[in-house]
Amino acid sequence: MCCYVGVAGGAASGKTTVCDMIIQQLHDQRVVLVNQDSFYFNLTEEELKRVHEYNFDHPDAFDNDQLLSAMEKLRQGKAVDIPKYDFKSYKSDVFPARRVNPSDVIILEGILIFHDPRIRELMNMKIFVDTDADVRLARRIRRDTGEKGRDIATVLDQYSKFVKPAFDDFILPTKKYADIIIPRGGDNHVAIDLIVQHIRTKLGQHDLCKIYPNLYVIQSTFQI
Ligand code: ADP
Ligand code: C5P
Repeated sequence: MCCYVGVAGGAASGKTTVCDMIIQQLHDQRVVLVNQDSFYFNLTEEELKRVHEYNFDHPDAFDNDQLLSAMEKLRQGKAVDIPKYDFKSYKSDVFPARRVNPSDVIILEGILIFHDPRIRELMNMKIFVDTDADVRLARRIRRDTGEKGRDIATVLDQYSKFVKPAFDDFILPTKKYADIIIPRGGDNHVAIDLIVQHIRTKLGQHDLCKIYPNLYVIQSTFQI
């Protein structure tokens, strides 16, 4: 059995940063990070020609069936190949896929991982990174003009046409499913410590159950 942790939130809210901090603290455990970005559909030639009209923030942009199948395989203890998405070519077959082995903790990170109930219900712990829109936009401009080589006008157009409306219509409404809402993302060390503590407790309980299969009965007796 593994512990599934979902980390959702707007683009550039700090999801990856939060995940990296959790992973750093869980260095003595087997932990893997899977990004929802890896499951973007490849664009058709026609879509590629008019890429500025494509909505990458809509739930239909992701291949959730493929994502679910990968999650199921990991749950069954099988290794899976996770594609690496290339933001420059808009393709997921440019780089070699990454082999992910079954682990004790599987962290799934992405803007819309709580949107599809099938994916949402897989999660043992759901976290929403809550960062102000102006901070997200400022980070996005810096990231997309730097790492992705886009110009500022394109970034702002995409933001007002697709990113902001999709945040309001699809991402923000999934906040209600979260068990934990983290304000200020990676700056919130207290929240990250508490999350790591909770994961350790869950993993410890699982180890104890393996050693003492009747532990549930013992716990119930104590509760009475
Ligand atoms: P997401 O995974 O939600 O898109 P990231 O964690 O990748 O967000 O962060 C987006 C950008 O903002 C990155 O360039 C990252 O270095 C930067 N960033 C994230 N958290 C902070 C923070 N607390 N302070 C300053 N910059 C940050
Ligand atoms: O990593 P992050 O959660 O920020 O990734 C999601 C964002 O990536 C979305 O807001 C989407 O607009 C953007 N994206 C993009 N170009 C792509 C694929 C996704 O700008 N080819």
